[in-house]
Amino acid sequence: MSDPTAYLNGAWVPLAEARVPVLDRGFIFGDGVYEVIPVYAGTPLRLREHLTRLQTSLDAIRIANPHPAADWEALLHDLVDRHPWPDQYVYLQVTRGVAKRDHAFPKDAVPTVFMMSSPLATPPREEIERGVAAVTATDYRWGRCDIKSIALLGNVLLRQVAVDAGAMETVMFRDGLLTEGAASNIFAVTGDLLLAPPKSHLILPGITYDLVLELAAASGLPHRVREVTERETLTASELWLTSSTKEVLAITTLNGRPVGTGKPGPVYRRMHALYQEFKAASVAAGRARPPPVGAHA
Ligand code: PDD
Repeated sequence: MSDPTAYLNGAWVPLAEARVPVLDRGFIFGDGVYEVIPVYAGTPLRLREHLTRLQTSLDAIRIANPHPAADWEALLHDLVDRHPWPDQYVYLQVTRGVAKRDHAFPKDAVPTVFMMSSPLATPPREEIERGVAAVTATDYRWGRCDIKSIALLGNVLLRQVAVDAGAMETVMFRDGLLTEGAASNIFAVTGDLLLAPPKSHLILPGITYDLVLELAAASGLPHRVREVTERETLTASELWLTSSTKEVLAITTLNGRPVGTGKPGPVYRRMHALYQEFKAASVAAGRARPPPVGAHA
């Protein structure tokens, strides 16, 4: 296909030609927030929840939301319709805009709004059936990991720890407690009990995290949201990572050692099936709904 199309401040432009001024506070300070939304066969998964989290992130950094939810939805569908890929993930970001470099908020900057879409390759069969490798590291990121900030240097450096070790993800601990992955949430299973670290300012409130807990509750799968120690993580019978692009994957080796049996466990297989059922039902419901009409900025 030809060049993907991006949305930038009210205009549709070829992605390769989209430009922001160097004084954009996203470039200078990492002063902005973002979302990543998976779209299956034209249906965004949990769009309302992603837009609610966007609002929470914008509120946390005191940027006025440039669009009401209906406009975001219309823009997202317009963007997705411009690309041929069956499954896509939409990246959107809002920064505080362009202003003379000064740490303090500028008085009259206009937020920069950017959206692009990419093909979404859901995890290959091999990763689902064999699981993936992870390593551990100390979580040295800042104290507001609940904000989906575009300033991701900590996450970038910590993800690279995994890549350098030939692994997919870095599982992080702060003060002896499990926080999350460099770009995912982490669940542990001990015995047949699913454990999730509680939401706090130290982890991103994942949309997939919420969905996994909802599916566990709806299917009677024993689960608890509580602090998970490093020791419990290192001796868990199963570990999972979750994110909007990776869905739910079993971590089957940690620091080169097998997790449990070294194969995706029974609780994982159950959750993976529940997740796929949920996805299929969402796509079917999305097909049945009329396409959204909305203002295009
Ligand atoms: N990242 N924690 C962190 C630090 C993340 O970056 C992500 C997702 C998650 C999972 O959140 P969700 O289930 O809402 O995707 C948890 C996205 C996919 C990214 O930055 O590309």
